[in-house]
Amino acid sequence: MSTSFRIAILEGDGIGPEITREAVKVLRAIASQEGVSFDLSFAPFGGGAYFSHGHSFPQETQRICDEADAILKGPIGLSHEESKRIPVEEQPERGALLPLRKRYNTFANFRPVYLPPELLDFSPLRPERIAEGIDIVMIRELVGGLYFGAKESGTDAAGLRFVRESLDYDEAEIRRILEVAFEEARRRRKLLHSVHKSNVLMSSVLWNDVLSEVAAGYPDVELRHIIVDAAATALIPNPGQFDVMVMENMFGDILSDLAGGLLGSLGLMPSACIGAEKSYYEPSHGSAPDIAGKGVANPYSMIGSVALMLEKSFGMDAAAGRIWAALRAVFAQGVTTADLKAGGRRVVGTAAFGDCVVDALEQ
Ligand code: IPM
Ligand code: MN
Repeated sequence: MSTSFRIAILEGDGIGPEITREAVKVLRAIASQEGVSFDLSFAPFGGGAYFSHGHSFPQETQRICDEADAILKGPIGLSHEESKRIPVEEQPERGALLPLRKRYNTFANFRPVYLPPELLDFSPLRPERIAEGIDIVMIRELVGGLYFGAKESGTDAAGLRFVRESLDYDEAEIRRILEVAFEEARRRRKLLHSVHKSNVLMSSVLWNDVLSEVAAGYPDVELRHIIVDAAATALIPNPGQFDVMVMENMFGDILSDLAGGLLGSLGLMPSACIGAEKSYYEPSHGSAPDIAGKGVANPYSMIGSVALMLEKSFGMDAAAGRIWAALRAVFAQGVTTADLKAGGRRVVGTAAFGDCVVDALEQ
């Protein structure tokens, strides 16, 4: 009997459906090459789902995700104008994405900041600063901190409007993300940067206490401490000094976007959101409503998310490696899409780019 994996596909909003279509082409090619089968269930999710189903994370979608072995998710979010037609608590970030992360407790977010030699001209950095390429893994805690803490707002005794949001972590939540990071560092260059703000935040003081306990179990990994603002500065002139970086939720949100700038575009950043039982995979970029439906968006980050899924959820490392190689080969052939222009490459549409990736896979 052949192996079969159930995948919930959440196309999302904006450019989500068109880039997902290309990711599905790649999945089908891999299925026939590897002799496995992928059982795909499409389900509504995001702002569009609110208008069609009354909820941005409909119950039917929750059931499909519950039953899947892994989830492949496109970007979500509507234009500012359209978002205003959705009640605040149902807006896709608050009503769908954060609840998805919470439901499956996907605490470990891997964001590879990866630019191989064939793609170096996408980066705004001068070539001599990145002669070796860029190859960092940012590991972001994804289900704690400010994004999930208690929130309160109102009017105080002096009649002033106020807001309070809390940044909560317990030691178990800190330990598990640090362990993931040390394991990743051990698989790679054995260098881990821990990003914190312990000169100000008590959450970082606890982070560092737990860090020294966890580090004792990884004497083979070199640990370096860096304050978050200093990390933002250091990343720009010399990204090559970093290999694996670990940080809490909001620091990771911000620094991973900064890293997207180093690559030249967040369109070059897939991601994996790993939970103990279930994981989901998504591009790090948004739904780009301004170019949606035009067939100009690059599907790289969606196809890269497929590669991460094959590796991390299905143990198909070799197939994942072939997808990365195919993506590199397509750019090396001098092909790109209108949203990712560099190096005088020939511009093709989203679907044609996906076809090139499938062709490269079949070489
Ligand atoms: C990301 C996104 C989300 C986040 C938004 C859409 C809620 O920016 O995945 O980085 O802040 O986590
Ligand atoms: Mn973000």
